[in-house]
Amino acid sequence: MSNRRHLLQQLAATSLMSALPWRIPAAQTTSTAGQALDIFDLEAAAQGVVPPAHWGYLQSGADGEATLRANVEAYARWKLVPRRFVDVSRVDLSTTVLGAAMASPVYISPIGSLRALHASGDIGVARAAKSKDQLQVVSTQMSDRLEDIVEARGAPVWFQLYTTNRPEATRQLVQRAQRAGCPVVAVTVDTPAGRNTVTATRGRRADTRTCSACHLTDANGNPRPSISTKPMFAGIDTNGLGLTDATLTWDFIRRLKDMTTMKVVLKGLESEADAALAVEHGADGIIVSNHGGRALESGRGTLEALPDVVKGAGGRIPVMVDGGVRRGTDVFKALALGASAVGIGRPYVWGLAAYGEEGVGRALDILNMELRLAMVGCGARNVREISSASVVT
Ligand code: FNR
Repeated sequence: MSNRRHLLQQLAATSLMSALPWRIPAAQTTSTAGQALDIFDLEAAAQGVVPPAHWGYLQSGADGEATLRANVEAYARWKLVPRRFVDVSRVDLSTTVLGAAMASPVYISPIGSLRALHASGDIGVARAAKSKDQLQVVSTQMSDRLEDIVEARGAPVWFQLYTTNRPEATRQLVQRAQRAGCPVVAVTVDTPAGRNTVTATRGRRADTRTCSACHLTDANGNPRPSISTKPMFAGIDTNGLGLTDATLTWDFIRRLKDMTTMKVVLKGLESEADAALAVEHGADGIIVSNHGGRALESGRGTLEALPDVVKGAGGRIPVMVDGGVRRGTDVFKALALGASAVGIGRPYVWGLAAYGEEGVGRALDILNMELRLAMVGCGARNVREISSASVVT
């Protein structure tokens, strides 16, 4: 009798096994934004619609992409520490950084040329950020007019500044951002003198189409330098103008502060020494970032650098982080290691490329849902209750 039962159990298991879902791929191309179950579904959907040159632009890291991989892998090394018997019937994700209130600590990192990924561009992102009440940081290389983005967002956005190599052009950019109502300028300092984005170049080589929507040409049909086609440079002399300046040193912070009343955040610090220097020179905040692995090759993941930077800042100014965040649990880990807010780059652009504004909203919803569940599991009722005791290696 018991042998027969055992045999039946085995048979049942065999027929069940053939129906088990392990043949379903980890990430699926979905037909609506709402069907995306995680960020990787949005990535798969985006890859299905973005042409190779633009896909290469989005996905590329520097050189062999070890830094890009390090960003993502750093998160896997940390595990969450569950806590029990905490009343988690209400979990509050909201927070405020440098006066900016946001529904959750997940914010939108600046990405240039968004219209190359979806026609709704920065405006689509702004509408999603508005509907989810999340902070948006817009790139100097934005595809839409800053004033229109602010209007679509219905609240101030932060302005990411490339310093340029000409002080007068820098001043014009900064003053326009201030006039548009930006309370914070985040100056990117991680690519002072070029980079080597191999995947982007391979993508361009694989793509035979000409894309007049993205690459304007002059009267002779030759491509115009991309900087001159960007709305932020309207009215600025772009002849010989570079986005960055290899000669800049720490005194630039004072010069920038003299140009504006906006708070100055440095985007792209990764060491304790630089964090201490940032405070000393008057920075109001720091974003630990390596440009999504697109600047220096063979660097640490930003999560690995975060504790050093937090130490250097010594609680005097807020420290944010971006790079490699793909899960709400990643956001939780960064908060536990001292971040005040956590930026996402490619994840919201995957949503944008696949489904426009709705896809950006879905990316934010997914990360916030996962973050909420991590907080529930670890007994954190608000973001202040997420501490270094919440994670372990
Ligand atoms: C960027 N990033 C970036 N940073 C910046 O300060 N100004 C910019 O114009 C851009 N443009 C840009 C384009 C693309 C295609 C990517 C992927 C990244 C860097 C961005 O703000 C952020 O630091 C990273 O994207 C974060 O890493 P993840 O989330 O993409 O892994």
